[in-house]
Amino acid sequence: MIFFRYFCCDTLYVKTLKKINLMAFELPALPYATNALEPHIDTKTMEIHHGKHHQAYVSNLNAALAGSEAEKLSVEDICKHISKYPAAVRNNGGGHFNHSFFWKIMKANGGGAPSGALAEAINKHFGSFDELKKQFAAAAATRFGSGWAWVIVKADKTLAVCSTPNQDNPLMDIAEVKGTPVLGIDVWEHAYYLHYQNRRPDYVSAFWNVINWDEANHHYQAAIK
Ligand SMILES: [Fe+2]
Repeated sequence: MIFFRYFCCDTLYVKTLKKINLMAFELPALPYATNALEPHIDTKTMEIHHGKHHQAYVSNLNAALAGSEAEKLSVEDICKHISKYPAAVRNNGGGHFNHSFFWKIMKANGGGAPSGALAEAINKHFGSFDELKKQFAAAAATRFGSGWAWVIVKADKTLAVCSTPNQDNPLMDIAEVKGTPVLGIDVWEHAYYLHYQNRRPDYVSAFWNVINWDEANHHYQAAIK
C-alpha cells in the first residue's frame, strides 16, 4: 500500500515536472466542427486554416523558443513584450495568439447584434452598431496585404477599431494602436480565398453572421476591469 502511494505520487511528480519543463505550445482544438460555420466560412478553408496554418505557427513558435526561458510564458505575455524577441517569435507567437482568439470569437448560428455592456459601449463610442460595422469593414478592406482588423479596448477603456499587418496584434508593444482585442478578423488570403477568391469585403460581411457575441462581451468585461 505504501509502495503504491509513493509510486502514484512519484508518477504525478514526474508528470508535473514534465509539464513545467516542457511548456510547448499546443494547437487548441476548434470549439466546433469544421463545417459549423458554413456557408459563411467553408469547411475546406477551416480544415486547412486550423490544421495546417495555425499548426505551423505553433510548431514554428516552439522551435523559435526551444530551450529559452520564454517557453514558460503565456503567448499573451510574449506578445506584450514582443520587441524583445526575434522576428520568428513575433510572426509565430502573433499567429498563435491571433488564431486562438479568432476560432473562439466565432460560433455556429452566431451573429445578430451585440448585447449588454458591449452593446452600450458600442453605442457610446461609435454612435451605433452600424457605424462600428462600417469602420471595421473599412479597416479590414484597407489593410494592405495580409493582416487583421480589430475592435479593441484601449488603455483609457474606450473602444476603437484598428488593423495590424502580418501576424501582429494590438497587445504587442510595437503596435501602432494598442489595446485588448474584443473582436478580430483574419484578412490573410488563406482565411477566405478558396470560397471568396478576391472578394475580401464579401468575406468581411459574412463574418457578422458567425460572431460569438457572448465571447466578445467576455473579452470586453475583462478588459474594462
Ligand atoms: Fe490565418
